[in-house]
Amino acid sequence: TDLHRFIKALPKAELHLHIEGSLEPEQMFELAQRNNVTLPYGSVEDIRKAYDFNNLQEFLDLYYAGMSVLQTQQDFYDLTYAYLKRVHADNCRHVEIFFDPQGHTDRGIAFSDVIEGILDALAQGQTDFGISSHLILSFLRHLSEEAAFETLAQAEPYLDRIMGVGLDSSELGHPPSKFERVFAKAREMGLKLFAHAGEEGPPEYVYEALDLLKVDRIDHGNRSLEDDDLVKRLVDEQMVLTVCPLSNLKLCVVDDLTDHPLKTMLAMGLKATVNSDDPSYFGGYLNDNYIQTADALNLTQEEIVQLVKNGFEGAYLSPDRATELM
Ligand code: HPA
Ligand code: ZN
Repeated sequence: TDLHRFIKALPKAELHLHIEGSLEPEQMFELAQRNNVTLPYGSVEDIRKAYDFNNLQEFLDLYYAGMSVLQTQQDFYDLTYAYLKRVHADNCRHVEIFFDPQGHTDRGIAFSDVIEGILDALAQGQTDFGISSHLILSFLRHLSEEAAFETLAQAEPYLDRIMGVGLDSSELGHPPSKFERVFAKAREMGLKLFAHAGEEGPPEYVYEALDLLKVDRIDHGNRSLEDDDLVKRLVDEQMVLTVCPLSNLKLCVVDDLTDHPLKTMLAMGLKATVNSDDPSYFGGYLNDNYIQTADALNLTQEEIVQLVKNGFEGAYLSPDRATELM
């Protein structure tokens, strides 16, 4: 349709993307073979069939299992380069991607192999596709505060190439308050601060991310809508929400895309953006998220433009890059 063409033609930014969640089944097989890893799947079709989730944890179990094929610096390079090539086709011009170092270092992979593979691919993506990028180190919230501090220490040699820290993995039972001190340390180190909050967790977790972690963006934030005072505050502060519609659908945060709150969020004045989260697991990259949500919610061109604009405004673009893109 015309609206689909309109979406595809717009230059866009992606602010909520876990690089490990862009591992496609085909690449999972290829890397398993290369590294002699045995997968619990017989075929690419078997993998796709297994991606049928009832909640966040069911996804996370397969997401961490899938990571087992990522072993060498080259693997992390190939993973990241494949993502950039794919979103270049979606006319994505700027990305801010999360990586989960603890998902790798806890398997005996060196932090340096993980981050250097990713950073080399991001540099090549700038050269080959003109995509500007930032890297965000995300802590796994089901692990301890102490483990997060150890991971932050491993990042010290790379501080000039890490834009911020994030908080992801199993939300319920692991509130932001658990990581108040490590976020304070990251803030002192000059890092930007992000946290997943209000995906499955209650509005209180969003308050904690704001008040205790002092985050610069909220990842997801859907359940904020249950609290009118919180909505008012997020609007007043123009806090960016990195919303992920197809992720919300696949993880049963919404029952149907027609029930997705994205249009309501915009109507309320919330600074919502559209992102893919874990595109390989959730069935769509950036344009798929825009297009399927636009169709389900009858988004107007104006609403699409607002979402795209929010993406660039919510990004941490260098002044030169902002002049180019905005
Ligand atoms: N939520 C929490 N943790 C995650 C996600 C998510 O959507 N994707 C990867 N890790
Ligand atoms: Zn996420």
